[in-house]
Amino acid sequence: MALMLLWGYSQLSKRGETGKRLGFMFKNLPPGPTPLPFIGNMHQVDVKELIKSLRELSGTYGPMYTFHLGSRPCVVLSGYKVLKEALIDKAEEFSGRGDFPAVQMWSNGNGIVYGTGERWRSLRRFAISTLKNFGMGKRSLEERIKEEAQFLMAEFRKTQGKPFDPTFFLSCAGSNIICTLVFGDRFEYTDKKFLTLLDLINSNWKLMSSTWGQLLFTFPKIMRHVPGPHRLIYKNYLKLAEFVRERIEMNRETLDSNHMRDFIDCFLIKLQQEKNNPDSHFSEETMSKTTVNLFFAGTETVSSTLRYGLRILLRHPEVEEKLHEEIDRVIGPNRSPCMEDRSRMPYTDAVLHEIQRYADIVPMGVPHTVTRDIEFRGYTLPKDLNIIPLLCTSQFDPTQFKNPNSFDPTHFLDENGRFRKNDALMAFSAGKRVCLGESLAIMELFIFLTSILQSFNLKPLMDPKDIDITPESSGLGNIPRPYQFCLLPR
Ligand code: HEM
Repeated sequence: MALMLLWGYSQLSKRGETGKRLGFMFKNLPPGPTPLPFIGNMHQVDVKELIKSLRELSGTYGPMYTFHLGSRPCVVLSGYKVLKEALIDKAEEFSGRGDFPAVQMWSNGNGIVYGTGERWRSLRRFAISTLKNFGMGKRSLEERIKEEAQFLMAEFRKTQGKPFDPTFFLSCAGSNIICTLVFGDRFEYTDKKFLTLLDLINSNWKLMSSTWGQLLFTFPKIMRHVPGPHRLIYKNYLKLAEFVRERIEMNRETLDSNHMRDFIDCFLIKLQQEKNNPDSHFSEETMSKTTVNLFFAGTETVSSTLRYGLRILLRHPEVEEKLHEEIDRVIGPNRSPCMEDRSRMPYTDAVLHEIQRYADIVPMGVPHTVTRDIEFRGYTLPKDLNIIPLLCTSQFDPTQFKNPNSFDPTHFLDENGRFRKNDALMAFSAGKRVCLGESLAIMELFIFLTSILQSFNLKPLMDPKDIDITPESSGLGNIPRPYQFCLLPR
């Protein structure tokens, strides 16, 4: 095998730049398990549980090791310390976007999430300032979230204390906030088209987190030709893009530059402004991909966290009880929760942080690349090398959390019961690629969860001790196990 690798290396070396780059790469990458040609290190992992295997390998090779996903070498980062050194201390160098085959076929490197270089930088800047203009992180959007929380409570009341699965209610609520920003409007929870779109997003999130999704991540070239449910991911993206295209056309027909209604309007105006700039990063294609990115990223993440969070609370009624006590004392029954309450609710704040830590809904982050050749921790990482930031290893780092494998809100409380921040919580990642919707998500999580617990008691359908709070599957996302429960009005 060593001979084959040497042969491969010598052939590449003959081919000029690529060879030089790979030669450079082979010279001083961190050590890792020995790869086989073609399959890389896949014989050393359980493909059904890729993340678990990658975590275990860091036990042998340390916080930074080289791993071959098929023929692609990448460097895996594990634990808070190295993730901080890379994503925060060397933020610029680690800000490239790595391969994510499940979406690559559709995104083609375009849009915010999967873009890289100058185009990504301009798009990200544009998206942040536009979403802020429409209220992201501000009071005006808080009012919208409070209003949506009331719609959600009304839907929950209709369940009349009977068992139900909260998935689509929570998706509707979370998605409606991003819809307000992007499409200028919310949808009714009974709107068939809206429910179909949420189903597409939910299905893609699940597929990317399934064994099929992990196989696609590892062997993209082969898996693209192998029949299986993973091929739906691309088709589902096309359907989402078709919906976005219809919305863009609706906006275009009624566009008024003196009255911007949403993100799409702003993008359409930007296109007009840039139409004579041959180097512009803004195109119809970019608009469509970026809008789908926001819609997708802003929908499933918040609702999965809430769905996971409610399941954890069903498992831990003693935590729910303390939350009720704090909500009753600080907010009372007669007004809606608001963001100002948070600073007076350290326990609730700690529980929400602990839910994000424990639910760990994007366990291996989204792959990055290094943007130039760099020296890092004594190794030489060549430009474009894929980096897998195992965010879960920061969230579950035993040097940062006293009880990492248990759900324990005291991870975020000091001895006096005051809220205590912990930078090792990297649910939104960190550095230049940090989640663009972080402030929005935090608002939604606080207002939705406190509104639910202000109005209802949670009732499980089984003994809390028998509720399994480990994920059903792990890939791009940690998927909570499906469940039903009852909400009893308080
Ligand atoms: C609990 C909710 C959320 C979690 C846990 C979460 C987590 C993440 C993570 C881990 C990343 C990858 C960062 C990286 O590459 O290192 C990310 C990226 C991103 N998120 Fe979120 N997210 C959440 C909510 C949202 C919302 C509500 C939006 C909507 C605005 C959003 C928009 C994005 C975008 C556009 C990116 C790509 C950023 C880039 O590549 O520059 N996210 N998110």
